[in-house]
Parts: sequence; structure tokens; C-alpha cells
Amino acid sequence: MEIKMKVKIGVVGAGTMGAGIAQVAAQAGHRVVLTDTNPEQLKKAEQQISSSLLKLTEKGKFSPEEAEEIKNNMAYSTQLSEHQEAALVIEAIVENLAVKHQVFTQLEQVVSPTCILASNTSSLSIASIGSCLQDPSRFLGIHFFNPATLMPLVEVIPGVATSNENTQRIEELITSWHKTVVVCKDTPGFIVNRVARPFYGEALRIYEEGLADFATIDWAMTTIGGFKMGPFTLMDYIGNDINYTVTETVFAAFYYDPRFKPSFTQKRHMEAGFLGRKTGRGFYNYQEGSVAPAPNRNEALGQQIFERILVLLINEAADAVFMQVASPAAVDLAMTKGVNYPKGLLAWADELGAGWVLERLESLFAEYGEDRYRPNPLLRRKAREQSKFIL
Ligand SMILES: NC(=O)c1ccc[n+]([C@@H]2O[C@H](COP(=O)([O-])OP(=O)(O)OC[C@H]3O[C@@H](n4cnc5c(N)ncnc54)[C@H](O)[C@@H]3O)[C@@H](O)[C@H]2O)c1
Repeated sequence: MEIKMKVKIGVVGAGTMGAGIAQVAAQAGHRVVLTDTNPEQLKKAEQQISSSLLKLTEKGKFSPEEAEEIKNNMAYSTQLSEHQEAALVIEAIVENLAVKHQVFTQLEQVVSPTCILASNTSSLSIASIGSCLQDPSRFLGIHFFNPATLMPLVEVIPGVATSNENTQRIEELITSWHKTVVVCKDTPGFIVNRVARPFYGEALRIYEEGLADFATIDWAMTTIGGFKMGPFTLMDYIGNDINYTVTETVFAAFYYDPRFKPSFTQKRHMEAGFLGRKTGRGFYNYQEGSVAPAPNRNEALGQQIFERILVLLINEAADAVFMQVASPAAVDLAMTKGVNYPKGLLAWADELGAGWVLERLESLFAEYGEDRYRPNPLLRRKAREQSKFIL
């Protein structure tokens, strides 16, 4: 089976991600069937896609005729059997292994033997989801970022059973949807949700130690570090419930490696209902009339905060390469396109010098004696050889 352009695509689950993924596929010229067990959700998705297309038409991205054609190419149904003719079906339902198994077992009976099946899961392993299939070689992860229509990155994750051919076909297909594709190993958090952990975790740790408040840490990371958003602003934006759960899941999946230890501060904010923007209060107060706290603009302190978070991020990026999760170029692409980092972390390490990064990590490790600061062997090697990550 050849996946050619304009084949039929199926999406299961019409929530936040499914609706976006369906729109992306339709905008790329495919006929798309979007299914969900909840008819209300399908209606909501249809309205959301219509209004998004209207906005894109107003911005000049599509002509009114093109937008109409995209809409006409989309069908909505509560029946999985509507995926009968699909060349690829992407599942984006609730993050629950038993429910995903139920859906894939049914799907496999409906689709053609050559249809590729995929999950948009963020935290379950591809191997565990695919294990329910008679032919797991046709199954892989296709991980979009929220909002799927705007975020350029897609992580493609073959499981141990996935055929190389199918991985390659999906890489080509998703690239043709004008997305940046990185292929990575089926390991917890894939690339982005693994490598980004210290951005939140170390910021929380710095706060917990009393070194600086939220506003100062955010100021250091944006003004000195050049990140678009500071960690606390970003956690409030993502939602403390969601961000905490990702950290907790990655921590457990890595057999409780202290590098990924969640923070009490974030947990307490979550327990208190301080989830972020969506509840009007998180680390900051978003209620009307509230005044944003001013940072302490002490340059030396800001530099210290920025460097501490950055070297931990670089260490994590080095670990992803060391453990063969992805190539150095894929890791850098993932962090710049998936979470908008101002530079690829490994290119950043090359610029600063692996020796410089290692020195800082070693001094943190010596000070704290905690495993979260242990330097990665690949970073040590690069420092010793004075070589670069990105050739
Ligand atoms: N939200 C994110 O930021 C994000 C980002 C990347 C990946 N993901 C992953 O994408 C998947 C979906 O997440 P979401 O945030 O879009 O969830 P969501 O809650 O917004 O939507 C899930 C949808 O699935 C439907 N559903 C539930 N059970 C179903 C079934 N048996 N058959 C058909 N439809 C069913 C629900 O009615 C709902 O409309 C999850 O696996 C999640 O881990 C989420």
C-alpha cells in the first residue's frame, strides 16, 4: 500500500487534539472522517473548525472557495465503521490504555489490512497500545502539539513492533502536511516532554530554596535567557494540573529517577485549585485589577538562575541523544519547534562549550550531592574531546 497524497484520513476523538488534527489533514487536501462517541463533541468540533477556517480566510491563508472545499471534505460521525476506507487513522481519545485498546481492537476489524493506525498519546507507550492489535507492525505514535493547527512540530514514534516502511510512510505523509517531523524512540515523554522537564522543575526548585520569587525567575529566563515565556507564566498557561501530571507520569515512567522529581509547590497550587489562567489564579493572579508582581532585576542573580536552568536542560538534551532517543538535530528541532526555545539546546551547548556546561553541573552536583545534577556521560565526553554535538 502506498500512502499517496489525498487519501482518506480518519481521526477518532473530536476533543482538543482530534479536532485540530482533523483540520490539519483536511487543510492538506485529504478527505477526513472525524468520529467521537459523543455527538455534542462532534458538533462543537465542527463549529470550532468552521470558525477557525473563517479566521484563516480573513487572514488570506485560504480563499473562501478553498475553505468551503476543506469543509466539504470533512465528515463527522459517531460510528467507527466510517473509517472503513481510511489509509491512516489517528486516535486522539481519552488518555486511558483500556479505552484505547477497546477502540483499536474495533478499528482493526473495520479498516483495510494496509491501513496504518496511530495514537496521539502523550504519556502511554506505543508498545503497550499496539499490543492489542493482530498486526502491530502497522501501529505507531504520531504526537501533535496543542494547538495542532498552529504548532509545527510532530513527533513520530515507532514502537518495537512497527515496521520501518510504515514509519517512513508516515514521516513523508506528515511532512507533506507542512509539519516539522522528528522521529524518536518509544521512551517516556518522547523528546519534548522529557527534555523540557527541568525548565519547570528547576525553576520550582530555585523558588523552593528561596533564591528568587516567581516573577524574578520568569524575568531571568525571558530577559536574560531569551525564552518567550518564563517557566511560571508558562505553567499557568498550560495549567498546573496538566503540567504536574506530565511531570509525575514521566517521573514514574523513569522508575523514579530523581532528575524528574515533581515539586510540592506545584502540587499544592494544583490542590488549591490554582491551576493557572483557566481558574483566574495560578502562580500569578489573573483576576481583574490584580497587579503583576515586579521582579528583582539583579543581573547577577538573574544570570545565576538562567545558567542553572539552562545547564540542566542541556544535560537532559544530551541524555536523550546518549540514550538514542533521537539524533542531536532532531532534539534541537523538537525544542525549537515544539516549545519555541530560542535556540536548540545542543547548539547552545556547542556555543557555550561542553566544558563550561559540565563545570556548572559539577559544581551543582558537588554542592547538593543530588542525582538530579549528575552530568551526562555524553556531555563529559564532548567536554573531554572538546567536540560539538551538532556537526
Ligand atoms: N491536550 C493536549 O495538550 C495534548 C497534546 C498532545 C497529545 N494529547 C493526547 O491526545 C489525546 C486526546 O487528548 P485531548 O486533550 O484532545 O482530550 P479531550 O478530552 O479534549 O478529547 C477526547 C475526546 O475523545 C472522546 N472519546 C472518549 N472516549 C472515546 C471512545 N471510546 N471513542 C471515541 N471517542 C472517545 C471524547 O468524547 C472527547 O471528545 C490524549 O491521548 C492526550 O494524551 C493531548
